[in-house]
Amino acid sequence: MSLQGRRILLAVSGGIAAYKIPLLVRLLRQSGADVRVAMTPAAEEFVTPLTLAALSGSPVERHLVNQTTGRTAWNNHVHMAEWAEALVVAPATSNTIAKAAHGLCDNLVLSLVLSAKCPVFWAPAMDLDMYAYPATRANLDLLRAMGHSVWPSPEGELASGLSGAGRMSEPEFMHRALELHFGTRSFWSGKTLLLTSGPTEESIDPVRFISNGSSGKMGEALAAEAELRGAKVRWIRGPLRRADRTWTDRVHITSVRSAGEMHDAALRALEGSDVVIAAAAVADFKPAELRTTKSPKGELASGINLVPTPDILQSLGAQRRPGQVLIGFALETGNGVDSARGKLARKGADAIVLNYATAETGMDSDTNQISLVTANGVEEGPLESKVAAAQRILDWVERNAPTA
Ligand code: CTP
Repeated sequence: MSLQGRRILLAVSGGIAAYKIPLLVRLLRQSGADVRVAMTPAAEEFVTPLTLAALSGSPVERHLVNQTTGRTAWNNHVHMAEWAEALVVAPATSNTIAKAAHGLCDNLVLSLVLSAKCPVFWAPAMDLDMYAYPATRANLDLLRAMGHSVWPSPEGELASGLSGAGRMSEPEFMHRALELHFGTRSFWSGKTLLLTSGPTEESIDPVRFISNGSSGKMGEALAAEAELRGAKVRWIRGPLRRADRTWTDRVHITSVRSAGEMHDAALRALEGSDVVIAAAAVADFKPAELRTTKSPKGELASGINLVPTPDILQSLGAQRRPGQVLIGFALETGNGVDSARGKLARKGADAIVLNYATAETGMDSDTNQISLVTANGVEEGPLESKVAAAQRILDWVERNAPTA
């Protein structure tokens, strides 16, 4: 558990998104983190100190001078800032961002930011026009230039009723980003994973296409796990048929539609990648000709001429350089091991992840049962979540990658 025992200082400023901070505190505490909370006076309008004190298990600090015990005491912001291994300002209002960027210090939260020696993370949250305002952009750039991390402010519904960029990153995202910060595994730090995932679509005419039922869930689990372990991910992704989540800037997504586009994008990304995982369910055939107008069904019923799509994994296998690890998938319905061995040899991979198309495994399910087929044998895994299967695959890479 990468957050176990980690000392995280949460600084809350006065934005409506402060109502989500109790959830963040809970997530961090559930992961074993030691959490303390400081608030600006304005933040108290949006979430009570009592709620945050109860959830964090520590008194919430609000003022430089503390008079709550009937005695006047000095809240030593230097000690609090020194205690923290990470300082998170969430929600970060335009006012707090502007003051911190320019070194102003008229409340406890700002004094913590100015005295922090640990990494500082900002979760900006404001209305879209305030977020887009040039001074706000410049202030965020100033914070970045000081080495602070600024988390994305996704687009969506805002408290004003308007819709646009400026929402606070969700508590789950912040929790994951902190796990990622503390959890980097040395194997993956500085390494790049090239990943293909999802289905491809091969157009018959402007409204019809050939595809398959791939959900891309296995690919998503691999991207998330690699990100969590500290890798950079170059993710060439076929059409996503459900809502996406927010990714940190360690994950670079190239959205493609057809096998041809995926082939070209993957080969462009091969150079400089250390590990390649081809998880995509690529359509094996495409129509020989693309009709530019919708064809009457009678015309299609007489048959569509098909030609094979490029084999992306095979091209990657042919062009890989020594030291790059290459893993493919094989989704089978029978005689899996022999077929996977054939693919291993034909496509020049180091391992083939064999899985079967059943209700609990393969496409669109949340669970999978994988075997890693290599020239040396077969490592069988249990029925498990796709997240656990992704961990098994990346663990295999860590054990088997050539040492530089
Ligand atoms: N693959 C690929 N490009 C293709 C077809 C497959 O990159 N045009 C990759 C898949 O991403 C997977 C592996 O090759 O990693 C095996 O895919 P699969 O569909 O099981 O194999 P095929 O080569 O299509 O063989 P077959 O359909 O005959 O089983």
